Amino acid sequence: MEDTSNAPLKPRPAWETDFPHERVEATHVSRREFAKFLCLVSGGLCAGTAFVAVKDKLLPPHRIVGEHPVCRIGDVPPGGTHGFTLPGSHTPYILIHLESGEWRAFEQKCTHLACAVFYKPGTGKIECPCHNGWFDARTGEVLQGPPPRPLPQLAVILRGEDILVAELAASPA
Ligand code: FES
Repeated sequence: MEDTSNAPLKPRPAWETDFPHERVEATHVSRREFAKFLCLVSGGLCAGTAFVAVKDKLLPPHRIVGEHPVCRIGDVPPGGTHGFTLPGSHTPYILIHLESGEWRAFEQKCTHLACAVFYKPGTGKIECPCHNGWFDARTGEVLQGPPPRPLPQLAVILRGEDILVAELAASPA
């Protein structure tokens, strides 16, 4: 081991002389500071959750007027999906080409806590990975997990090679 006892002492940097502090003081967090931090974080989370809940209750749902082109039939193979939004809305939707040849379109937001949902090819099910929620890919009904409601669904209209969507109730039977 090297003997450093005769090594010259390094001069203290000027900032240490101007702003002296002890290392222990710099890293110490008192119970009061920690409690304040916890209160701030949980208060922020409460405010955020309340904002989302109030916004959902007070703002009317976005109405889908008319038919909207999404893509071409050849763009989505059986078992495939295509994500899209509609004009004037930021709501994400997912178009699903089921292996049976049927088409479905749903909101891509889980009805539990709005996580993005995904079609699981070959299963006929839509998965929400956040809390293991599952939906029927034909109907949008909840199969398992905490989601309280089915996924909102759009009508899918095939016209020639084009795929269009419309509000489900307004679609031709
Ligand atoms: S957000 Fe989808 S199951 Fe919780």
